[in-house]
Amino acid sequence: MLIPVLIAIHVIAVVIWIGGVSFVTVVVFPMILRMEDSMEKVLFFQGTEHRFARIAKACVVVVGLTGGGLLQLTGEWKNLFTKAGIGPTVMLLVWCFYVLVLLFEKNLFKVMFKGEAQHDTRRVFVRLTGFHWVVMGLSLMAVGIGVYTGHAGGF
Ligand code: HEM
Repeated sequence: MLIPVLIAIHVIAVVIWIGGVSFVTVVVFPMILRMEDSMEKVLFFQGTEHRFARIAKACVVVVGLTGGGLLQLTGEWKNLFTKAGIGPTVMLLVWCFYVLVLLFEKNLFKVMFKGEAQHDTRRVFVRLTGFHWVVMGLSLMAVGIGVYTGHAGGF
């Protein structure tokens, strides 16, 4: 009973989080790239990204707690970093990557918007868009591998 409930909460948090990342990547960034004014670009980006960052952080916590709980309850800890545990291993790695990005987000933005942004905002946003496509790809890969291995019992 507890395991399916935890999986459901885990997947709901994943859907909100990765859905948001996908929306930002395929809808928000193309909108920003089409804007003429640099200031408008930066303000719109900050408004959306800062608001979403809070939701993403909450989801990352829920996904981590439920994921850890599932590993504990299913005894899958020992399969981490083995072929049999490829699903949770990929999930864990993607999750760690997000934790690092969210922890150092402020530093990342500082570096990306420093100096150059005032002269070439478009280039910064093209770079950020590319980065988001990579992040979205990794996340969808984790979802795909997680669901596949969860139902096929491994590769
Ligand atoms: C600390 C990080 C995480 C841990 C420890 C973890 C662990 C788990 C475990 C143990 C399951 C149960 C099914 C199985 O054993 O394969 C599961 C299910 C699932 N996880 Fe994660 N996970 C984590 C993060 C993530 C992330 C970042 C994603 C997506 C980006 C994700 C997507 C999924 C999905 C879609 C399922 C459902 C699979 C199914 O159809 O049964 N998880 N997770």
